[in-house]
Amino acid sequence: MQSFTRIISLCLILASPFGEARVIPDTTQKPAPGNEAQQTPLSQANYSPAVNYQLQCLGCHLTNGEGAPRNDIPQMTDFVGNFLKVEGGREFLVQVPGSSQSALNDQQLADLLNWMLKNDGIAGGSSPEGFKPYSRAEVSAYRKEGIQDLPGVRRHLLEQMEKIGITIPEAVMP
Ligand code: HEC
Repeated sequence: MQSFTRIISLCLILASPFGEARVIPDTTQKPAPGNEAQQTPLSQANYSPAVNYQLQCLGCHLTNGEGAPRNDIPQMTDFVGNFLKVEGGREFLVQVPGSSQSALNDQQLADLLNWMLKNDGIAGGSSPEGFKPYSRAEVSAYRKEGIQDLPGVRRHLLEQMEKIGITIPEAVMP
């Protein structure tokens, strides 16, 4: 019985490279009826910030920005606005890879961050009073700069927050 199983396994191993289905693109294939239009790149689509959040951010940050600390995604809910209270925080929110490397154009990213930072948004009142919305030009400039030593910068920003009396919840992952 054992040797029978062994023979079967051997046959399967030998046969698999030849037996696997191979998908060869059919260059003459046409789109399904009703599906002929070229897809619009996200940066040219006119979606609302809420939809852009769903398409580009929600996968990691979850529905209300609650994040998934178990998977190293920090909580933004009721907190993310605090970054704007310390020096360098305004740049940071644009320069994190999730923002800067998204498929959104600069105006869309500015609108999305402003939407998140509203008092009735993900920031939940954590943004400083009189928060000045991001402009397209500002986002564009920060995006070009990039960020060196992201974990170090983030840690420093959170330390600065603690110094001015802001409590850092566990799920923000200090
Ligand atoms: C692949 C997962 C992922 C996606 C997608 C993602 N992020 Fe993030 N985001 C993170 C992680 C992880 C951090 C923590 C800092 C870091 O390591 O980048 C973070 C941090 C942030 C922060 C700073 C908050 C903090 O506590 O550090 C902002 C603001 C942010 N993301 C915005 C966005 C926006 C806006 C989008 C969508 C356009 C987005 N992210 C998409 C994973 C993601």
